Amino acid sequence: ASPALRDQRGRPLHDLRISVMDRCNFRCTYCMPESIYGDHYTFLGSQQRLSFDEIERLCRIAASLGVTKLRLTGGEPLLRPKLHELVARLRRIDGITDLAMTTNGVLLGRHATALREAGLDRVTVSLDTLDPALFHRMSGGRGALDEVLAGIEAAQAARFPRGIKLNTVVQRGVNDHTVLDLVQRFRGSGIVPRLIEYMDTGNRNGWRHDAVVPSAELVAAIHARWPLDPLPPSRDGEVATRFRFRDGQGEIGVISSISAPFCGDCSRARLSSEGTLYTCLFATQGTDLRSLLRDGSHDEALHERLRRTWLRRNDRYSEERRERRLRAVRKIEMHYIGG
Ligand code: GTP
Ligand code: 5AD
Ligand code: SF4
Ligand code: SF4
Repeated sequence: ASPALRDQRGRPLHDLRISVMDRCNFRCTYCMPESIYGDHYTFLGSQQRLSFDEIERLCRIAASLGVTKLRLTGGEPLLRPKLHELVARLRRIDGITDLAMTTNGVLLGRHATALREAGLDRVTVSLDTLDPALFHRMSGGRGALDEVLAGIEAAQAARFPRGIKLNTVVQRGVNDHTVLDLVQRFRGSGIVPRLIEYMDTGNRNGWRHDAVVPSAELVAAIHARWPLDPLPPSRDGEVATRFRFRDGQGEIGVISSISAPFCGDCSRARLSSEGTLYTCLFATQGTDLRSLLRDGSHDEALHERLRRTWLRRNDRYSEERRERRLRAVRKIEMHYIGG
């Protein structure tokens, strides 16, 4: 390992987020609006997506450069056949201390046990509201709340060693009035809800600043009902700010990329399902790794391309947004890079 690898802002490379599937069985309005991702939208072909062999090879090289945390994302990662086989391979890589997955939960009922047995440490389930009709609408008319709740129960029954989190994207005038219900439902369950400020990801979600609910507002509302105390970060570069309930009923997190950007210690790289490496969620350009994977290049060449990409990195999009120094850009889309 080479722990000395730092980008232009002195940030280490610790996390690799791997999108294993650009497709999704939902059409969340803030991510893959149906109007754009309809029947005629062309997704990647299976030959274009990295194989498990290719993903494993890249993860080994990333681990040798200092990556300790891997997260599988999509689109919807569980649409990728036999995902537990990839989990088992990644689990065996030296130096990986945290192996996680972000999913919409619909297929979790079917796969939770196999994933846990393969060595997945923890899961994060996207759940924006407990109002069934609103849930259905926010998923673009594709999702049934009951299926996701059943998926969460299956994950609880599977006993992932490092537990379960929920991701709740909050939009003003859409689901903000249902946040307290959601928090109440999971208090005392051991599951950690995380409230996420609606972000201007991609170019297609019609983002508007006035639909963002600043985390401070939500924390104040929750605190008024169930007093909260701040918790310290559980590790460097953590995305969420944590709070615990004073009455011992667990914890929550808030992810405040709009009101309080956290680029300063961002240690995350992202790999798209077709093998392009991005050094920011809001990147406009990536580094192609697939051609090296497929042209017979040795590990050294891949290692060098990864290393150079990180050394050159200077991204801090969310901070620039706040400073209003936004470039007019074509950003990478969320379903393609996995959040
Ligand atoms: P933990 O490992 O449990 O802390 O999860 P995580 O927050 O790293 O990952 P997750 O996939 O659950 O993402 C939660 C939310 O944070 C999503 O809305 C992501 O898009 C967002 N997020 C994750 N990493 C970044 C980042 O580097 N920058 C920004 N702006 N948002 C991020
Ligand atoms: N803003 C904030 N979070 C988003 N996610 C998807 N799109 C957005 C957005 N525009 C979240 C999903 C998922 C996570 C990976 O990213 O809800 O939980
Ligand atoms: Fe929704 Fe996640 Fe699918 Fe995007 S990838 S449409 S956020 S379930
Ligand atoms: Fe990292 Fe880019 Fe997110 Fe900033 S905006 S925290 S640099 S991924």
